Amino acid sequence: MMRFLSAVVKDPACLRGTALLRLDFNTTDDWRMKAVLPTIALLRKRADRVVIVSHRGRPEGADRKLSLRKEARDLAKLIGHPVVFINHFRFAAIRTQVAHAPRGTVFLLENLRFLPGEEKNDARFARKLASLADYYVNDAFAVSHRANASVVAITTFLPSYAGLELEREIASLGRVMRKPARPLTVILGGAKASDKLGVIKFFRRRADAILLGGGSANTMLALRGTEVEQSLRDRDPKDLRALRAVMKYPNLAVPVDAVWHDGMIWDVGPKTEELFTKKIAAARTVIWSGPLGFIERPAFAKGSIAVARAIGRNRRAYSVAGGGETVMFLKKYRLDRKFSFISTGGGAMLDFLAGKKLPGIEALK
Ligand code: 3PG
Repeated sequence: MMRFLSAVVKDPACLRGTALLRLDFNTTDDWRMKAVLPTIALLRKRADRVVIVSHRGRPEGADRKLSLRKEARDLAKLIGHPVVFINHFRFAAIRTQVAHAPRGTVFLLENLRFLPGEEKNDARFARKLASLADYYVNDAFAVSHRANASVVAITTFLPSYAGLELEREIASLGRVMRKPARPLTVILGGAKASDKLGVIKFFRRRADAILLGGGSANTMLALRGTEVEQSLRDRDPKDLRALRAVMKYPNLAVPVDAVWHDGMIWDVGPKTEELFTKKIAAARTVIWSGPLGFIERPAFAKGSIAVARAIGRNRRAYSVAGGGETVMFLKKYRLDRKFSFISTGGGAMLDFLAGKKLPGIEALK
């Protein structure tokens, strides 16, 4: 049974002592940070001290460019309270510092991926982390698909809880998977179709329509024999073999026209926009991950904007979006508020929606 922070908070004796809070600050802006502010506020109220741990990027050893120093400053601004940044991993010294800090102190430890033990899910490293706190809270859905020491091994050493945002992710994504109101439309874009393969398979019989855009669509078009010239697409032979097996799913829809530039497809065309927005208008549940074109260039963001607006207009549908690029795009065009739920997960959301068990969530059970 998973223990949720929202449930234990009802017991006033619970959550005292030092909390070790795993968050995911692996984005260039602060939207993931904002999503976990309720958990931080709750722990600040109830715990004596809060030690936050996170990662950024995929460093090989200590890489100053991937330090979390800036995140400590950003977080301090957001919560209106100092955040003590600890830039080393001398655990005996950290333990003393935490133990002697005044009640209410918030710490942020340096990027855990600076140490090899983190990504190896090393028990000795997890034990050291655990020695800093009395209990552990995972509110890092975005990294819960990784068997990392601060996500999985840590739970064997401390009483462990799912944070408020993680609970919301499990409930909201679970809702669109278990008993979605039909029709259900799934929109998948982004560079690689192979990243979406699990989701396509999971929704084979569950979705009424799976609409493909971006490199994902180009790959399917190429597999079906359409000329896509130099367009972005999957090229790994193993991936292509796997994708061949799903390309004939009857609910899978690929673009019928495209916006071309320099011998490449840069966006879906107007006929596709119309086709896709009709499917979205009729839906009662919509899931979206991955842009349909090169959204960095506004001229090629039209298809994605049309899709986002159509989802926003459909007030009867429960709508979910996720993936780093998709969320940043929605925020840029201020379309995120129109969605029922915005997931903080990228790869984690895709794994969850593919019906896979996420190690970080399993570890909390
Ligand atoms: C993410 O941003 O998707 C997570 O932080 C996981 O990052 P990773 O793919 O480098 O493990």
